[in-house]
Parts: sequence; C-alpha cells; structure tokens
Amino acid sequence: MLYPVMWQGDRVSLIDQNRLPAMYARVEIRRSEDMAVAIKTMIVRGAPAIGVAAAYGMYLGAREIQTNKREDFLAQLAKVGDLLKATRPTAVNLFWAIDRMLKTARQTVGSVEAIKTVMLETAQNIQEEDLQTCQAIGDRGLEALPNTPNKLRLLTHCNAGALATAGYGTALGIVRSAWRDRRLERLYADETRPRLQGAKLTSWECAQDGIPVTLITDSMAAHCMQRGLIDAVVVGADRIAANGDTANKIGTYSLAIVARAHSIPFFVAAPLSTVDFGLPDGTGIPIEERDPSEIYQIGETRIAPTDIEFYNPSFDVTPAALITAIVTEYGSVAPADLKTQLQGKPSG
Ligand code: MRU
Repeated sequence: MLYPVMWQGDRVSLIDQNRLPAMYARVEIRRSEDMAVAIKTMIVRGAPAIGVAAAYGMYLGAREIQTNKREDFLAQLAKVGDLLKATRPTAVNLFWAIDRMLKTARQTVGSVEAIKTVMLETAQNIQEEDLQTCQAIGDRGLEALPNTPNKLRLLTHCNAGALATAGYGTALGIVRSAWRDRRLERLYADETRPRLQGAKLTSWECAQDGIPVTLITDSMAAHCMQRGLIDAVVVGADRIAANGDTANKIGTYSLAIVARAHSIPFFVAAPLSTVDFGLPDGTGIPIEERDPSEIYQIGETRIAPTDIEFYNPSFDVTPAALITAIVTEYGSVAPADLKTQLQGKPSG
C-alpha cells in the first residue's frame, strides 16, 4: 500500500506527487510553512490526503510556537490555521482537519506542552481514521455497484486513490475492493487534463498494485461508453453540498452527463468529512483557479500562443441529479437522502 503522508517521529514525509511516475521520491517536512507550500504546489494532493497533511502541519506549527501562555499559544495557532487554510479553497477536508485540530487545542486542559502532545495524537488519529474510512468506502461501494454477468469495467477520473488519501483511496478504494474480490475486469482511467492525475498517478498506482488499467484521454470516455466498455463510473469528491451537488476534478461534470446519456450509473465516493452540510447546494462551493501555464504548456513545451486569454478552473460541480449514489463510510445513499440519513453522524 502507498502512504502519501507519513509521520517519521519528528517530521512528516510526503510522496512528491509532482515527480511521479518518472520518480518515486519523498519530501521531508519539518515546518508548517513548508507544509503550506507542499499543499499549494500539490506535492500532496487529493482532498483527504490534504486534510491529513494539514493536520500534521498544524502540529508542526504548534511545535514552533515558543510561548507557555495558553491564550498566546491559541492565538498563534489560529494564525497557523489561517496560513494552511489559504492554500487550496475547494477541498473541504482541509478546513475540516484544521478546525478539528484547533478545537482539540482549545478543549485540551493543561499546559501548552500537553496541548502539543494531544495535537500530535489527533493528527495521527485523523490519518488512521481516514485509512479505515476508505476501506469501508471501498467495501460498501462495491456492494452498491451493479450486478453484471461479466466482471466489472469501471471508469474513473483524476486520482482518488491511496495517493489522494491516507491510503487505499475512495473511488479507487472501490476499485481496490472489487479487484480483491475478483469482481473487477479492468479500470479505465481518464488522463485528466490539465494536470494529468489520471495518467501520472492513477495508472501508476494501479500498476504498482497489479490492478488492470487502461489509460484513455478525457475525450475518449463517451466513445468507450458508446462501445459498451463501461459498467459504472466511480469518482471522488472535494466537497459535497447538503443536496448532493458534488465538486470534483474539472471534467467530472461532463463525464456525469455522458454517463447519464448512456444510462451508466455514476457513483461519488467520499468520506463523510467531505460533505459540507453548511452549503445547501453546489453554487456556494469555491472553485480553485490555477495558473494558466497548466493549460498552455505541456512539460517545458508551449502549446498555445501567448497573446490570448486562459481560464483554468481546477474543479467543477456535478449536479446531484446526475449522481446515482454517494458512497461514504456509512454506505451508499441517494443524493436526495444525504441530509436526512447522514447529517450529524460522526465523521472520522
Ligand atoms: O487537484 P487535486 O489533484 O487535489 O484533485 C483531486 C480530486 O479532484 C480528487 O478526485 C478528490 O480530491 C478526491 S481524492 C480521494
């Protein structure tokens, strides 16, 4: 199993996801500021993995604070939280994990040193819980998939795998469970322009684990569906509104439209911590815009003229009506039942 975030006794070790698949390298992070840079530059990416990394970033920040006075400490810790929150706007797990760390600090009685100790334990708990949550999502998601006479041919977008979580993955967790239970024939992976998480990460992760994977460009998904090659689509999520509208990697929305046009079920897999019950629908989800160079350049090669405008939204919102079911650690629910069935349940 791949562990993108690891606590190494006094520092955090991250898989440098910008260097995959050409090179597997780990980056050592000792300071909260460096963790903020790692999240912003996508050394670590994927909503749950960002949450885990940010939780450790909060502990690293706490460790740097020099005062023994509780109120001073909490005020400085809030600033660490602001720094980490300013990295990426869409994945709600970032905010969820930072707020959980701040709450833990506030609620811990005792010295500043005692608070720091509890914060490290909390970051480790967030990581461990995510691993268990993803395993539950994988198994519960598999139960929700259609019963086909053949083994399943699944299609995914971006990377919602071990690399995007504490390990195992959400959408790829379902794929992993299907493979383990001999119910998977093959995963089709969209390359996922512009940053190519499908090509660089999902196909690499599957190859590592021996899961049969076929890489396609994003524009080939409709053709594959028309040819009867896909039984179901499974994707992850960065933020799900209370009505089930789901923000995920740019291109997810068009995939959902195409799946609906071919009557192919479309599943969103995410921990309950990805659901933002504070947002009634997807219109309020902040969409990150990234540097235009992600569009006009491939590697070092410029592929578009300079004197034009660019628009590079990193996520889109799939309306709940296009989603067959949302799979969390609690099982699979229709988007319309998300609020009534899951609001208020503990999310780990
Ligand atoms: O920009 P990224 O690579 O962080 O985007 C990742 C995704 O969109 C994933 O599908 C999502 O975070 C779910 S990861 C389990």
